[in-house]
This record gives sequence, C-alpha cells and structure tokens, in this order.
Amino acid sequence: EAIEKGGYEHFMLKEINEQPRSIADCMRGRLDSRAGRLILGGLRDYMNKFQNADRIIITACGTSWHAGLVAEYLFEEFARVPVEVEYASEFRYRNPVINSRDFVIAISQSGETADTLAAIELAKQKGATIFGVCNVVGSSIARSTHAGSYTHAGPEIGVASTKAFTAQISVLSMMALMLGYQRGTLPESKYMELLSELEAIPAKVEKALKLNEQIERIAAQYKDARNFLYLGRGYNFPVALEGALKLKEISYIHAEGYPAAEMKHGPIALIDEEMPVVFIATQDSSYEKVVSNIQEVKARKGKIIAVVTEGDQSVKKMADHVIEIPRAHEAFVPLISVVPLQQLSYHIAVMRGCNVDQPRNLAKSVTVE
Ligand code: G6P
Repeated sequence: EAIEKGGYEHFMLKEINEQPRSIADCMRGRLDSRAGRLILGGLRDYMNKFQNADRIIITACGTSWHAGLVAEYLFEEFARVPVEVEYASEFRYRNPVINSRDFVIAISQSGETADTLAAIELAKQKGATIFGVCNVVGSSIARSTHAGSYTHAGPEIGVASTKAFTAQISVLSMMALMLGYQRGTLPESKYMELLSELEAIPAKVEKALKLNEQIERIAAQYKDARNFLYLGRGYNFPVALEGALKLKEISYIHAEGYPAAEMKHGPIALIDEEMPVVFIATQDSSYEKVVSNIQEVKARKGKIIAVVTEGDQSVKKMADHVIEIPRAHEAFVPLISVVPLQQLSYHIAVMRGCNVDQPRNLAKSVTVE
C-alpha cells in the first residue's frame, strides 16, 4: 500500500496532486489546439443524435452530479441547448417526461452506482440515447450505455472523489465545445480560442497546487469550526457545493454550499464571528456581485476565506484570507478553483485525526439503493 501511495500519506492527497497529469491524460489524443482538433472517439457514431437533441439530461450522484451541474452551464453557454441535471435517485422514481429526442449523459466515477444504473435503464426504455462518462473501464455503466467517453483519470482510491471530478469536467468541457462548434453556436475563432484555454488548464492546476502550505495554515486556524459555508456564483456555484461536500465527507464538519445570492434567503441568519465562509470569487462575469455578497458577510463579522484570481486587490481588503489561483477562462475555472477546496478539506480532516481515505459510513461505490 505504501508503494501505491507513491510517498504520500494518503491516497486522497496523492490523487489531488495527480490532477495536472490526470486532466492532461483525459485530453491526450483528443484535443490538439494547434491543429484545431477535438475528437472524442465515443461520440463519433452518435454525433448526429447529440447535435440534433432537443434537450440534454444529465444524471448522476454525489460529486459526479456536481460535475453535471458545471456541464449544464457549459452546454447552455456554448451550444445553446436546454439541459436538466438530475439526481439519479430522484429521476428513476419520478416517471420523467423523456423521449427519443433526448440525449442523456450519465456520469459516474465507478460506473457501478445503483441509482445511476437504474436511471439509465429507465431512460433507455423511453427511447433516449444514453452516453456514459465513466472512469472505470468496462464497468456496468460503461457497458449499459449506447456510447461513452472514459475520463482516464486512473484508479481513484480515496472515497472522497477528487481527480475523477476534474476529469469528468474535462470530458464534459470537450463535449460542450464540440457541440457548440457543430451546432454553429460557437464561431470558429471563439472555438479555437477555447481549445487553447482548455489545453492550458493542467499547467494552471499545477501552479494552484503550490498553494498547499498556505492552505495548511488556514486549515490549522479553522479545524475546530462547527460549521462552514461555501458560496459561489455561475460556474463556481457547483464548486461551492463540491467544496462543502468534500469537507463534510472527510472531516465531519457540517458544511453547506449555496449560490452566493441565495444566501440572503436563509444561510445569512447563520453568520456570526464563529462562521467561516469560503467564497469562490474569481474575476468572471459574476465577480462584482460576489464582491457585494462578501461585504454582506463581512458586515456580520463572518470569517472570510476567498479563492480569487491572481493579483486581485478588492477582495484582499475584505477577506481574512485570500487564496490566489491562476487566471483562466471562466468556463474552465472550476477545474482550478476546486483544487484549494480539496486541499482545505484534506488538511482539516488530517488535523482532526479523521480517516481521510475511508470516512465513516461512506463507500467508494454505492451498489445498493
Ligand atoms: C459515493 C462516493 C462519492 C461519489 C458518489 C457517486 O457516494 O463516495 O465520492 O461521488 O458515490 O459515485 P460514482 O462512482 O457514480 O461517481
């Protein structure tokens, strides 16, 4: 096991650190921005169905469902196609309205999640085309779908998913760019620009990983907190959900993720000087709005930990801690902004003496209902 951990104390830390490589592996042979090439072999025979779909339905559980939420923003922005993101466990029992013009994407690291499998069977019966985004080759979900693309992140051992999440988003980003280009909603110049933006992500993740020591120091300050709030908007809203999930899974601290603007409809009541609030406040189209949400928390004396774009000055004046990540196109920021949140949850859990790789009550793959 020590050899498998490659010198790291835990699989989770190893997997967090593998992300520059796993994201690059996921894009290898598929994306070549200089040649203007983007190919997903699994989509070849189904491109027609994908392109002409009336609607995309994404179904998944847990962290994979969060990747699906990021994809909703990607598909709608680049391909202008309506998207619904469904918890597989709800979808399968809801008698959903679905037909042969729907394109269903099932996302699963393990490819064995019982609810996701059942959702696939249901959608299949109703005549939809089902596309799998799985990490485990030859898994049940990979076999039960019409077609699919593997995430190629390599084996993920830590129960809390990290590198599988960023690999899922990488595949979904490539799918969104292909779809936008084919549907004519993404002009060629923009498409080419986005290809190189996406290709630049692994190096930026590598840079973000260097923040580890700073994050360890922040973790030491907040490890005894009883609650945490995670807030983001736009592409960073699903990242807020994922950051909160990581923390509760492995450190057993109660954490909630929320769209920052929705805070005023409830969570704001929780804010006092004891409450750490993690903002993902990168410089994108919702930046100004997030900054005013930070002010609202500040006014109530919450402790602010903000993930910002390198060089940001405004948030620095308000936040207790700023974590500066490299600038990227806003659609691909989740691939970078989630990394410090993974590290934060990891360090807090280690400091609290928790079993990081095998948290209580959780399983790596949930093969029962
Ligand atoms: C379990 C795991 C999570 C995972 C979820 C979905 O709850 O602990 O890490 O996100 O299942 O798993 P899947 O393999 O379908 O992505």
